[in-house]
Amino acid sequence: MITNTELEYKGNLYPNQIVDYKRDSDKLYFTTENGVILEVTVLQDSVLRFRYATEYVFEPDFSYAISETASKGYNRLEVTENKTEYLLETSVLQLLIDKKTLRTQISDLEGNIINEDELGFHWEENYEYGGNTVKMSKITQTAESFYGMGDKATHSNLKGKRVNNWCTDQYAYGKDQEPLYKAIPFYTGLHKGKSYGIFFDNTFRTYFDFAHERRNITSFWADGGEMNYYFFYGPQMSEVVRSYTNLTGTPEMPPQWALGYHQSKWSYFPESRVKEIADNFRKLKIPCDAIYLDIDYMDGFRCFTWDKTRFPDPKRMIGELNEDGFKTVVMIDPGIKVDKDYWVYQEAMEKDYFCKRGDGPYMQGKVWPGACKFPDYTNPEVRAWWAELYKEFMAEIGVHAVWNDMNEPAVMEVPTKTAPLDTRHNYDGHPCTHRKAHNIYGMQMVRATYEGVKKYVFPKRPFVITRAAFAGTQRYSSTWTGDNVATWEHLWIANVQAQRMCLSGYSFVGSDIGGFAEQPNGELFARWIQLGVFHPFCRVHSSGDHGDQEPWSFDNEVTDIVRKFIELRYQLLPYLYTMFYRYTEYGTPMLQSLFYYDQEDTQTHFRTDEFIFGKQILVCPVQEPNAKGRRMYVPRGKWYNYWTEETIEGGKERWVTADIDKIPLFIKEGAIIPKYPVQQYVGELEIKELILDVYFKIGAENSMVYEDAQDGYDYKKGQFSLRKFKLVGKENELIIQQFKDGSYTTSYKSFKFKLHGLPFTIATIEVDNEEVPLKQIKLNGNNSIEIDKNFTELHITGK
Ligand code: NOJ
Repeated sequence: MITNTELEYKGNLYPNQIVDYKRDSDKLYFTTENGVILEVTVLQDSVLRFRYATEYVFEPDFSYAISETASKGYNRLEVTENKTEYLLETSVLQLLIDKKTLRTQISDLEGNIINEDELGFHWEENYEYGGNTVKMSKITQTAESFYGMGDKATHSNLKGKRVNNWCTDQYAYGKDQEPLYKAIPFYTGLHKGKSYGIFFDNTFRTYFDFAHERRNITSFWADGGEMNYYFFYGPQMSEVVRSYTNLTGTPEMPPQWALGYHQSKWSYFPESRVKEIADNFRKLKIPCDAIYLDIDYMDGFRCFTWDKTRFPDPKRMIGELNEDGFKTVVMIDPGIKVDKDYWVYQEAMEKDYFCKRGDGPYMQGKVWPGACKFPDYTNPEVRAWWAELYKEFMAEIGVHAVWNDMNEPAVMEVPTKTAPLDTRHNYDGHPCTHRKAHNIYGMQMVRATYEGVKKYVFPKRPFVITRAAFAGTQRYSSTWTGDNVATWEHLWIANVQAQRMCLSGYSFVGSDIGGFAEQPNGELFARWIQLGVFHPFCRVHSSGDHGDQEPWSFDNEVTDIVRKFIELRYQLLPYLYTMFYRYTEYGTPMLQSLFYYDQEDTQTHFRTDEFIFGKQILVCPVQEPNAKGRRMYVPRGKWYNYWTEETIEGGKERWVTADIDKIPLFIKEGAIIPKYPVQQYVGELEIKELILDVYFKIGAENSMVYEDAQDGYDYKKGQFSLRKFKLVGKENELIIQQFKDGSYTTSYKSFKFKLHGLPFTIATIEVDNEEVPLKQIKLNGNNSIEIDKNFTELHITGK
């Protein structure tokens, strides 16, 4: 065995033997002879935090990532010791700490090793900047897989890869290109059917090596700061992701229109063009809820101003668009034009809110307007000021939502693409340089934007979008995957990225549908729409350099396909809204990759394309030209083909037909899928009837529908409607029970049940133990029946 002393020659320093142990309620401190302190905090029985100090000193305990509402509390915590180790036990796991090396090993209560240090914590002193490069190495377990890590454009299983986190404006990025726009240092490991997660809460540039450099070693390290990580035990991946999401937080419910279809381009101007686009949607009856104004609406790219030639009366225009059911979303960038006559610039100068360099001058960089200075959003006072800047836009002009771009921050014409590393930041009272603040700069910008938008759209709900993000940014904002390209490969990337983000706690995500750079042909656009309507955030955006990218920009066949899929999204709104509710409430990812959905099935561990939309819909995009279908893996269980209603048995790969007007789409048997009628925009129609598509199953399955006023905050006071359905099917019988919570009265009076796959002809129907004449409930050839929404038990028997 290699000892720590032998390894020191490589420039690395290692903890040596433990000489002191103390416990302070949920925290344990192990101090080594050479001044390392390991602090272990038990947050929950399955969630531990590890922090390492060198030279006996911890940094102030401060994190932008952790949510104030993170759950805490454990059932059991016992610490014992023997000659060689300390042993900590909770009700679900045990942690061993080696007395000679401070290395740790975590197992479940049956003794199965879940995660163990190889060299464990070690560090290198950083003479250039001070502090340490902090490092951790772990043993990669046999057949271990790795997932998560935010927006990485690479195979979903990270085994064999090295990635790093440094928010970067990566225009037209390629597959495997590193790093991208987001820094989410969280991964999930899976081996022997058991899953755990690690969140490295360090905002410096971080690196993760998943058995890439050394075959059996997984390691992570950072350019500075502390070795400070959280360990989450499953054994189900769903528990791991939920625990991480609980720790870093979830957003509030968005306004429902934010889940509609959105149309964007760089840029729609002047007003007449914006109106023309909006009119075309209504004329062609393609549903759409929002239209985006990119940078060209501004006066010379000055944030919070309007180009009055292009948009002479924005308030009137936004009002008129609103009348027609369109919300207007505008872009705001972090770079403020250096212009002594520009009020935002003047204010920030007067108040001393711009970032400065190490020696005192302002940090200056080029963006769209030329030379810019950058507010220090890590200063709470600057955030409060920035939030107020939205007052006129939101409260007076009536802008509905805001899109924050370039907030990595992106700086043009410099090789680093960002601010110089010596730039100073307040970091909420923990002054530091850009090395530490870079990865949270965009997060703090969008946080300030969120606060301002929230305040000034009140009593409506805010909707905000960001390009850069750190772990926890999901609390404030939705996001998109940046400047992708109109290629088939990028369709694959978009699919992987959206799933990966969802499994990294960040569900409100989508890609620029059709591709930002270059121009898709009609077929690629149609295929991308088919995927995009199953992403939580659904927006077409393009650079506009090469032509138009509206649903009608191709041929009629494409327009019809695009309409059909956007209509499907609008029909599925109650299902999508319920997915969001489950994300908000329980941290359940809105998209679930197959290895998340069925981790015991090792065939899922290297799948990338198929995913579960919400809880019960299986989607698999077609990612090649000229395809009439594709091979796909259908997870275990029985599934209904959405298009043909045929049922198939999963657990194997198979060919599925999907001509250009279809995407492989399956519904889990037993599911009850809620649907609204097609609307041209959210709230267009008063919903008169909730359609419930019931997919018969022999056995039981639970489904749920969450509804509320679709905007505003009454839902927080109990004004919501949560319906849980329990379906039990037998050979000659179908029982559906309803359990209702919340005091919101939905506008419809009844449900229209559409019964799919019923193996018998209906003989009797009882609602709450009373037989109902079949005629009265409109039984028809399609097996659809109408039932009062307040039923408790529906009992159908067959003949
Ligand atoms: C970069 C963004 O990623 C893109 O979406 C936007 O259109 C341009 N900036 C112009 O604002």
